[in-house]
Amino acid sequence: MKLLATLFLISLFTACNTNPRSEYLAIAENAENLILTSPQEHPGKKLMENNCYVCHNPKISEEAMIAPPMIAVKMHYISENTSKEAFVENFVNFLKNPSEEKSKMPGAVKKFGLMPYQFYPEETIKQIADYMFDNDIEEPEWFDAHYKQMHGDRPQMKGRMGRGMGNGKGMGKNQNTNAQPSVKERGMQMAQTTKAELGKNLMGQIQKNGVIAALDFCNVQALPITDSMATVHKAYIKRVTDKPRNPKNKANAAELQYLENFKKQVAAGGEVNPIVVDLGKETEFYYPIVTNSMCLKCHGTPGKELETLTLSKIQELYPMDKATGYGENEVRGIWSIRFEN
Ligand code: HEC
Ligand code: HEC
Repeated sequence: MKLLATLFLISLFTACNTNPRSEYLAIAENAENLILTSPQEHPGKKLMENNCYVCHNPKISEEAMIAPPMIAVKMHYISENTSKEAFVENFVNFLKNPSEEKSKMPGAVKKFGLMPYQFYPEETIKQIADYMFDNDIEEPEWFDAHYKQMHGDRPQMKGRMGRGMGNGKGMGKNQNTNAQPSVKERGMQMAQTTKAELGKNLMGQIQKNGVIAALDFCNVQALPITDSMATVHKAYIKRVTDKPRNPKNKANAAELQYLENFKKQVAAGGEVNPIVVDLGKETEFYYPIVTNSMCLKCHGTPGKELETLTLSKIQELYPMDKATGYGENEVRGIWSIRFEN
């Protein structure tokens, strides 16, 4: 499998006539590993940051949160005698099929709505849970005060959460704090903060004002929000696709190649690595944008998830719309990002 993936990537890069620089080969050789992970680090840490912080971000203010911070999730999933096995199992169980019956955080469900189902390979969930159980995870500055206000004193266990951290056992903690982020990490961060900004606004609009109003909002705001994040990051940031709603978001030939590559990776269900192209002074970064159930309200099958009223509004705003008929966990498009090294 690893060899196959490697061959596939190499053939991809030769097929589109790009010169396979060492960067590509590094990616190809690591096609099945997580290239963003340094060897000493627990792989679950980066997996969590890449997959979950879009919504569970500890760096965001309490008012702007769209999901509880991971520390709160951890506290609800661990009590005095929870074993690691039980913790991991409960995590997998919830993420495979989130439901109110399974929820251990009814307050969060009420406040934010149920976590939307997103596809994660079981191994990814297990790694994340394994990391979270054993390590002290980053918590928002406001969390302590919030916890005291809601629940009184925090449970007194060893260290913060009392599970195997504190004595240098917490792998990955405080490592690399001085290291410069790699170009891959920078690209990933740009993709994720932009996604979070768009996602936060979208979820808020749907919750408060319904799908139709959210549609107007996307129509007017999607490109400006993306552009403003590009300004923040001093980069070019685009969301492009093979089936555009807005013709301005059509992928070019190279982007289409990357998109096809990502479709295969996502369909295969393993970890997906970003594609990083080193242009000397600049870096190009590509990463897939994958659907979840929420997206189908506006990108799903007409008459099914995509209601008739929504569809007619879409057709009014975008007479050339191609962006319907998607299911969950499909590649809707890619992030195409370019920045100076
Ligand atoms: C699109 C936003 C989003 C993403 C991405 C996301 N979550 Fe969530 N998650 C939520 C929301 C909203 C809640 C609170 C509502 C709930 O509990 O269902 C939540 C709650 C949870 C809960 C508590 C469930 C309960 O109620 O018992 C767990 C566990 C969880 N998330 C794990 C994860 C993990 C692990 C990842 C990354 C692999 C992740 N989430 C990614 C939005 C998200
Ligand atoms: C409320 C309706 C709505 C929802 C929900 C929605 N979108 Fe969209 N989406 C739009 C609209 C409208 C556009 C066109 C925006 C523009 O004009 O730039 C768009 C454009 C996009 C684009 C840019 C490419 C294109 O086709 O123009 C991507 C990528 C995208 N959406 C992905 C998603 C994903 C992934 C989700 C779920 C996480 C999602 N969308 C949920 C309405 C929606």
